[in-house]
Amino acid sequence: MVKIAFSSPFAAKKPSKDVEALVAETDTEVAAQGTENSTGRCLLTLLGLAFILAGLIVGGACIYKYFMPRHKLYEGVMSYSEQHDLVEEPYYLPVSEEADIREDDNIALITVPVPNFAESDPAAILHDFDKLLTAYLDLQLQKCYVIDLNTSIVMLPRNLMDLFIGLADGSFLPQTYLVREDLVVSEKIDDLSELGIFIYQHCFGRETYRLVRREQIIGLQKRSVENCITINHFENDFVTSTRICT
Ligand SMILES: *[C@@H]1O[C@H](CO)[C@@H](O)[C@H](O)[C@H]1NC(C)=O
Repeated sequence: MVKIAFSSPFAAKKPSKDVEALVAETDTEVAAQGTENSTGRCLLTLLGLAFILAGLIVGGACIYKYFMPRHKLYEGVMSYSEQHDLVEEPYYLPVSEEADIREDDNIALITVPVPNFAESDPAAILHDFDKLLTAYLDLQLQKCYVIDLNTSIVMLPRNLMDLFIGLADGSFLPQTYLVREDLVVSEKIDDLSELGIFIYQHCFGRETYRLVRREQIIGLQKRSVENCITINHFENDFVTSTRICT
């Protein structure tokens, strides 16, 4: 519509002109009209695209807000100190994590990135407070390890949220200590459906194993060669170093 209004003055002008002048001018005018038209068209197209893009962004945001559950993502960093045999001074290792805490579903999803210096694997840890299970997904090996939720290591969702809020606004001092736990693979789980929908989704398509604490298997025959991974994470005001051996 705008385009018609833009080019009509030229069209109306033409018949009133002398034939000679018109003939002389035609070439240049056509050329000028052509460039002006294409510039206008180009601008309109850009404007249109900008509108469409803006619409898509606003629309997308609305759809996201209405259809996605309201997950809150928290990010936190902690350092811990550990007594060293030779050096008296404690050393600090920052552990940063992202946590998606869903109180409605009673689950917490903790993302542990690759640490700068430590032999810890990146992981995605899911705590299901209804099923009372924890699933460690080792992102490097793409394997899942499931164990009973230990409530003395993992805070309840509400408290976990407070912890991460405190870490984010700096009211919580992110310097803490390390607790080690030693877990051993006991069996492969073939039927993931018994683990509840959230761990099912979390571990789907990955080899999944059940874990036991090492002190629970004392007396059992120990394998001569063990393959171990370590995941450093926090779901409390201390950092847990989870060693998982196969
Ligand atoms: C929970 O973790 C703590 C610290 O590692 C440990 O002392 C305790 O035995 C664990 N509890 C269960 C039930 O596994």
